[in-house]
Formats: sequence, C-alpha cells, structure tokens
Amino acid sequence: MKSNFSACQFENALRFAAEAHLGQPIPGSAIPYLAHVFLVAVEVINHLDDIPDEDPDLLVQTALLHDVLEDTMTTREEIRAKFGEEVEYCVFLLSREIKSENSEKKEFDTYLDDLANGPRAAQIVKLADRIVNLRQPPADWEDQHIADYAESAEKIFKHLGSADPALASRLKDKID
Ligand code: NI
Repeated sequence: MKSNFSACQFENALRFAAEAHLGQPIPGSAIPYLAHVFLVAVEVINHLDDIPDEDPDLLVQTALLHDVLEDTMTTREEIRAKFGEEVEYCVFLLSREIKSENSEKKEFDTYLDDLANGPRAAQIVKLADRIVNLRQPPADWEDQHIADYAESAEKIFKHLGSADPALASRLKDKID
C-alpha cells in the first residue's frame, strides 16, 4: 500500500477537528486543542513508512479526529457520513465516553481491551497520542498525577505495544 497520505483528506479532517474543538485549550495551557491532535497526526505521518500495510488516510484522519467524540458534541453519525465507517469505528474505540450520547465513561482496562481487539490503526493512534502527551505534562499537574499518568502509559504499552513495536519503544522511552 502507498505510504503517503492524501493532502485533501488531511485537510478535511483538520478543518473538521478545528471547528469541533474551537475554543478548547490544551488543559493547563492557552494553546488551542487542535495543536494536540495535529501533533498526534505528525507523529503518525513520520511513522508511515514503517507501517506500509496500513491505510495512511485512515491513520491520519483517525489521528486528527481521535478526540472529537470524547471532548466535543460531534456524533458518531457525523463522522461516519463525512469520513466513513472505518474512521468512525477507530475514533469510537479511542473514546472512553461519547459526549454527545452522554455515555458512561469506560473503565480504563475495558477501554484498552476493546482497543486491543480493534483495528491496528486505532492502536497505533493511541500509542502516538500517549507519546505526544508524555512530552510535556501540563504545568499544573502534581507529581502524583504525573506518576499516575506514567502508570496508565505503562498499561497502554503492555496492551497495545505489539501493534507497533517501533512506536511502542518510543513510548517506552518517554515513560522511562
Ligand atoms: Ni489525545
């Protein structure tokens, strides 16, 4: 499969995410939330050559949209209509709760099990997401919060690491 992604599909997902997250900052900062999902997409894009069997557009769009169900009023139907079933399903699996459905928040272990049984693209985006989040914890986090976050990253590494050994080892470096 090709290892380059469609700029047009990238732009569609970026614009959608920009509108959905409009006005949301990255917690503990004044930076627009879009910067977070953009960095996750960059992490995935830099890695596309290593995962030639995966669909680059699915990966890039899932990366850009990975938080819209959990953090905004976007519905599953909207994503399916605009980006198709595969993207929608990956974003669904990456969400512990669906804000527009007011759903209950999944237990973390259940969430990871569901991801581990889902498409590899969703697992790769989760690894990339945590690599980005571990670069710089929000300034207002206490040490305990940072320790808990590293512990949950360890779980992600254990559950999803086999999906992508290269990203998993990048994640492991960040945890250590
Ligand atoms: Ni994220």
